[in-house]
Amino acid sequence: MITFIVNGKEQTVEVIPGTPLLWVLRDNLGLTGTKFGCGMAQCGACTVHVDGNAIRSCITPIEAVSGKKVTTIEGLSQDTGHPLQKAWIAQDVPQCGYCQSGQIMAAAALLAQNPNPTDADIDEAMSGNICRCGTYQRIRSAIHQAAKMMKEGGR
Ligand code: FES
Ligand code: FES
Repeated sequence: MITFIVNGKEQTVEVIPGTPLLWVLRDNLGLTGTKFGCGMAQCGACTVHVDGNAIRSCITPIEAVSGKKVTTIEGLSQDTGHPLQKAWIAQDVPQCGYCQSGQIMAAAALLAQNPNPTDADIDEAMSGNICRCGTYQRIRSAIHQAAKMMKEGGR
């Protein structure tokens, strides 16, 4: 049995040891916003936060998050009111959408650590998140817009 906090709520799960966090989130807890892309830490589709840091949930065994705080895309805000979500909508970022929750979670971790990132900072922080639809320019614009909103007291 593993107990951890997901989006502010304590959860206890009984799964085979070594089960990746991604599958616990999706299959045991029904949080399907986090996606499976490669399963090998190569694409970023499965990005969530553990104690505020962006991690790849596809290669994170559930034991590693015992007692920790996990945040998924569903927990980023109650009402899609996070500046990144607002900026993503304003910039019309997604194309197929598959990679986007991972992109937003990576961007959220970046802005928490660096509220005023340069293009180079963004490119570096987001380099592990692959978008097959090539939405990188819009992602970059949306991160700049969200940073501006946060500076102006958006949230
Ligand atoms: S599914 Fe985890 S990095 Fe690709
Ligand atoms: S929007 Fe399609 S993979 Fe990124």
